[in-house]
Amino acid sequence: MSAPLSSVAVVGLQWGDEGKGKIVDLLSARADLVVRFQGGNNAGHTLVVEGEQTVLHLIPSGALHARSVCVIGGGVVVDPGVLVEEYEGLRKRGLLSDPGALRISQEAHLILPYHKAIDLAREHARGKGKIGTTGRGIGPAYEDKFARIGIRMADLCDPGVFAAKLRENLEEKNAYLAAMLDQGGLDYRSMLDELSGYASKLAPFVCDTSALLDHALRDGKRVLFEGAQGMMLDVDHGSYPFVTSSNTGAAGIAAGAGVAPKLVKTVVGISKAYTTRVGSGPFPTELDDDTGEHLRRAGGEFGATTGRPRRCGWFDAVVLSKAVRLNGVDSIALTKLDVLTALPSIQICTGYKLDGYSIDAIPAQVADYERVEPVYEQWPGWEEDISGVGSLDELPERARNYICRLEELLGVPVGIVSTGPGRDQTLILSDPFAG
Ligand code: GDP
Ligand code: IMO
Ligand code: MG
Repeated sequence: MSAPLSSVAVVGLQWGDEGKGKIVDLLSARADLVVRFQGGNNAGHTLVVEGEQTVLHLIPSGALHARSVCVIGGGVVVDPGVLVEEYEGLRKRGLLSDPGALRISQEAHLILPYHKAIDLAREHARGKGKIGTTGRGIGPAYEDKFARIGIRMADLCDPGVFAAKLRENLEEKNAYLAAMLDQGGLDYRSMLDELSGYASKLAPFVCDTSALLDHALRDGKRVLFEGAQGMMLDVDHGSYPFVTSSNTGAAGIAAGAGVAPKLVKTVVGISKAYTTRVGSGPFPTELDDDTGEHLRRAGGEFGATTGRPRRCGWFDAVVLSKAVRLNGVDSIALTKLDVLTALPSIQICTGYKLDGYSIDAIPAQVADYERVEPVYEQWPGWEEDISGVGSLDELPERARNYICRLEELLGVPVGIVSTGPGRDQTLILSDPFAG
């Protein structure tokens, strides 16, 4: 290395929607490159700047900063139509105006219309047992990648190769849709025409992003890796099968961004001060009562991608401890602390009980995980409005005690506290790029 390494990863530690967009936007002010490395437009990352809300699904959350180059890594699955629309929307606002402001990996796999059709038809067929996917074709696109029949950005940019691969894949997918899912086939010619239009728009941005990032890191540029989803949705370590189809944690960065693992220096794990989840699957601390409803209303807990109401519950230190361990978290960004205001008491789940026995790990069998009972400790709540407080000292003592208890349980410091959706509603206690 010719210059000191300066890279920070921001990853979700729960079931997604922890506030990654907000924190990445904030840290992007100091980043030269901001990189998505997995997932696709199942993500919905919300940025609020001077009251104006931007929701990004594919383009990294550095997009509002002129200095940051936005990089879509090879581990991302890209729906070309969604990317074109998102890019053009930002361009209309005068953003990403530099020709080098967006870079897309030539190795990124495409989400194609048949992936969406399969995702939706399978979910429909599963009925009550559905995963509750976002319906964006994520799982089927990753399946094709690992089955070695996927179509990549590099193919999209080569008309002859793309047409041949699309024809071959579509034949197989149409047969599958008809035989297994009772669905009509999709039309090759119109699909090819539509996608070829996107190809010409996206081609100028496609490059070897792995080499780009390696050079940037070795030159001492500041690189920010932006996770999507959260650790409990990780395909290997999450609440399988109620997960997404990628490695959502820091471990996914090396493969998904195409950088050596040792080039990821600092890991910031994001957690809400409570827990939410969209879609089906176990959620031990879920609250099906007025408190759950309060969290949903006060926290505006409705999906940024699908608009679905998010399931809400107490903070789960079992989940967080696992996520801190797997990600090698250096510090926590604790978001939505303001949402807990006005609750008479706050519970923290410190362990589970299964069949009367205490356990401090997540059972591998989803049926067992559905049955665990949370063990809680109770903390007093606070009444004061804390949104936008200027320093830690201005927080009520009870809110500070809550933060201290979480640090104690997780064994890592809280480095950022977020008390509202806006950029300025944030306490940065330690700068991750300074580490
Ligand atoms: P992401 O997917 O992790 O980027 O999170 P989302 O954008 O899907 O969901 C987080 C939601 O909480 C968004 O509506 C944010 O604007 C909002 N938000 C983020 N941080 C805070 C906070 O500290 N307090 C409040 N009240 N809202 C926040
Ligand atoms: P961000 O990046 C919350 C959930 C879906 C479903 C499961 C599988 O905004 O935090 P998929 O469409 O990926 O096959 O769905 O994963 N899910 C998310 N939940 N935030 C997300 O992204 C999510 N992306 C996927 O609801 O339960
Ligand atoms: Mg989200």
